[in-house]
Order: sequence, then structure tokens, then C-alpha cells
Amino acid sequence: MIHINDLFTKYDYAVPRYTSYPPANHFNQSLDTDDYIRFIKESNNCEPQNISVYIHIPFCKKLCYYCGCNSHIMQKEDVIDKYINSVIIEINNSTEYIDKKRNLSQIHFGGGTPNSIDSRYLNSLVKLLLSKFSTIDKPEIAIELNPSLLTYEYIDSLIEIGFNRFSLGIQDFDQTVLENVNRDSSVIPIGDIVDYIKNKISDATVNFDFIYGLPGQSVESFLKTIDTAVSLKPDRLVTFSYAHVPWMNKNQLYLETKGLPLAENKVEMFRSSKEHLLKNDYHPIGLDHYVLKKDELYTASINYDLHRNFQGYCTRRTTGQVYAFGVSSISQFERSYIQNIKDISAYIKSINDIGYAFTKCYNLSNSELIIREVINHLMCNLEFNPARLSELRSIPEEIIWNNIRFRQENLKIFEDDNIIERNQKNFKIKDNGLLFIRNVAAELDPNFERADNLYSKPV
Ligand SMILES: C[S@@+](CC[C@H](N)C(=O)[O-])C[C@H]1O[C@@H](n2cnc3c(N)ncnc32)[C@H](O)[C@@H]1O
Ligand code: SF4
Repeated sequence: MIHINDLFTKYDYAVPRYTSYPPANHFNQSLDTDDYIRFIKESNNCEPQNISVYIHIPFCKKLCYYCGCNSHIMQKEDVIDKYINSVIIEINNSTEYIDKKRNLSQIHFGGGTPNSIDSRYLNSLVKLLLSKFSTIDKPEIAIELNPSLLTYEYIDSLIEIGFNRFSLGIQDFDQTVLENVNRDSSVIPIGDIVDYIKNKISDATVNFDFIYGLPGQSVESFLKTIDTAVSLKPDRLVTFSYAHVPWMNKNQLYLETKGLPLAENKVEMFRSSKEHLLKNDYHPIGLDHYVLKKDELYTASINYDLHRNFQGYCTRRTTGQVYAFGVSSISQFERSYIQNIKDISAYIKSINDIGYAFTKCYNLSNSELIIREVINHLMCNLEFNPARLSELRSIPEEIIWNNIRFRQENLKIFEDDNIIERNQKNFKIKDNGLLFIRNVAAELDPNFERADNLYSKPV
């Protein structure tokens, strides 16, 4: 049998992360205000019926060298003020066209670092949204947090605003690793943050983010980090593989000078941390998410009810059409994507000039809608199973077959490499094959062509 290290050499070509289908670098169609409004009106008739909102806060007190997000060094208060006012204008203008009979199910603040700005800004944005829509029972109000900036007063204000899902970007507990990537550790011990939140809201969800593949990490040190995490019992935990794309983010070049771990060590970090998490009652979701069994993502995963968008895994209960506001944010509707301007001052100017800040869009063809269902099903349920997908999504099986690429000879190669277990009409991703799930998705995707410097490597 082929050794895992040889598999990396074999499958070491760049593949999309498939957080959307098609991937965001395909969003290249131009649009005007009439198109934008038309897309929003069209979304009112699309499934799923709820309203999800994403708001991007691009500011950070300090930039971490590994970061692949749209993040900018902190600006003066008047720029932040102008930025938030622009987001408010954008929300007011866009929501005018959203069907008010639909319910708000999810608000997600991402970044950048949403907790780098005064919480009164977050308060005004949440209040504005809640004043515009009725909500489902227990809507998810989520925020990505850099723990190094958190104080108890700030956590209190988040709880008061109504946040109930807190995602802590820990990345690593090892001080040397954090120093290597220009990141501060938390002032309040992470365990105290978790206890504080849980004491105030018993059904809050706390998530931890980690990254493996950073300079200074070893298999042993990363396992120690995960062991510490497990002892603090977050409801959810993510181990991201470090995505090295220095042609998109020049800061990442600095990490090369510090020495990035070898791919084979990254694999061992992935494998050993997963083994440890499973031993400690965490249930795997997709490639790199883990949840306790009391978490609603666990129930959704066993009921084939998981969904995935740019904000990560979610359930079909909370997912809706995603209306995104702020710089670089992407609205995700059933039939279209719309991307906002990436530069902060250009964003503010566009909102002042025309009331919106879209730059590019993508209109999905009927065929792409089917491919997206297949790839989402694969990423959520680790299987290609047209019969089950047909039943779950009411798509005739024949239509699924007509729109995907299914080359038995290539799938046999994945099978021989112990990546999938298959029969003539369906297959499952094997444990050993998880790290290559994006390569398998690309094989099913008839529109995928190999091109380096477009995507990160699988590991
Ligand atoms: C918007 S960022 C984090 C929010 C917050 N600013 C923080 O630093 O904790 C969301 C997550 O993306 C992950 N991330 C960022 N850059 C990455 C990269 N190049 N490769 C893999 N994961 C990355 C990190 O785990 C991070 O917590
Ligand atoms: S990881 Fe978070 S704090 Fe660091 S640069 Fe990225 S968004 Fe900012």
C-alpha cells in the first residue's frame, strides 16, 4: 500500500477549499444597482427560507503573519465610526428589498476582529437587525473573538447585546508559536472565559479555533495544545490546516524564514489531535470540526442535516439566504453570490455615492446548483451517494448523474490509495482519505482544472 507521505507528493496540487461553489475566485461577473436589487428580490423566493446575516469587521489591533482573512490594522476612531455608519446605511438600503415575512435565524460577526471595536457599535448593528425582522426561536447570534483583547466588561456587554455563540481564536497555547506569528496570548485564562460565559448563559455555544502547520509547532506541542483545549470542554473545536498562500498575503513569507513544519509532520498533527479528540468524546464534523454530542451540529450530522457556508458548518434550521454587509463580505443566495469591495475607504465612498458597495457577482447555472449540492453533501457527510442526496434534496437521481464528473478509472486510483471505499454508484471517504477530501471533490467537479497559485495545497 502507498505510504501516506507518498500520497502527499501525488496529490500535492492546488485545490479549492470548496467553502462555496463555485469558489470565490470565480465571482467575476459585473453588476449594477438594478442587478443587485434583482438578486435580493429573487432570494426572497429561494430555499432555505430564513434570513442569515454576515457582518465583516475588518480591523485588528495587530496583524498575525499567517492570516488569510480580510484584516487591516486598527484605524483611528473616526474611520471606525464612518465604517460602521456605512454598514448601517448598507443594511438599511438592502433590507428594504428582503421579504419581512421571512425570519432572521442567524447573525454572524466575522473579521478581522469584531471585538477590536467598541461594543456599542456591535450593539447598534444587532439592534438594527432585530428591529427589522422577526426571528426564529433562539436565533444564533455569533461572534469571532480574539481572546487577547477580551475583558470581563466586554464579555458582559456581548451577553447583554444577545450574543449566544462565541468563537475564540486560540490558534495555539504555546507561547513560542504565538510569538513566531506575531500574536498575543489571552490575558484572561481561556478556561475562565469559558466558565464566565457558561455561568451567565447556560446554553451558549463556545468554539475554539486552532491552526496546525505554524512555525515552532511540533507533533508533541500541538497535541499538548489540544489536550489543554479538551480539558476546558468547548462545545466545538476546529483544527484548521495552515493555508500558505503568500502570493495573496505577503506577511506569510515571513513564516518561511521561521521554518514551516513539513507536510508529514502536519499530517501527524492532524491525525494525533483527531485521535485525542475522539477519545475525549468529541465527534468529528467534516474534515476538521469537532463537537460534543450535546451540540446541535452533532444531531444535525447524524440526521444528514448539516449545511456549510463561508461562516463554517451550520444546521439547516439556522441557515438562510446569507445577506452580507461590510467590506469584502459575500452574500450567498441560492442562485447567486455577490461580493463587496475589499478596500475600506473605497467601501465607505461607494456607500456614500450609491448606497451599496458590491463589486462582482456570480449567477449559478442549473448545472452548478446540482454540483454544489453534491460537493456540499460530500463535505458535510463524507460520502458521494446520489440516491440519498436525491431523497434528501428532492433532485431526480438522473439529474445528479448528468451534471457531475464520475470517472471510474480516476476513482479507482483514489480507492487504491485508500482514500475512498466505493462501489459502482457511490463511495465514502475513508479516515485515511479525509485530508484529500478536496481532491476528491475536485474530481467530481466538471469545472475544475488544475492551476497552481489559485488555491492552497490540500495539506
Ligand atoms: C477571522 S479569523 C479570527 C478571528 C479573530 N480575529 C482571531 O484572531 O481570533 C477566523 C479564523 O481563521 C483561521 N485562519 C486565519 N488565517 C488562516 C490561515 N492562513 N490558514 C488556516 N486558518 C486560518 C484562524 O483559526 C482564525 O481563528
Ligand atoms: S487571525 Fe484574527 S487577529 Fe490575527 S490578523 Fe487575522 S483576523 Fe486579525
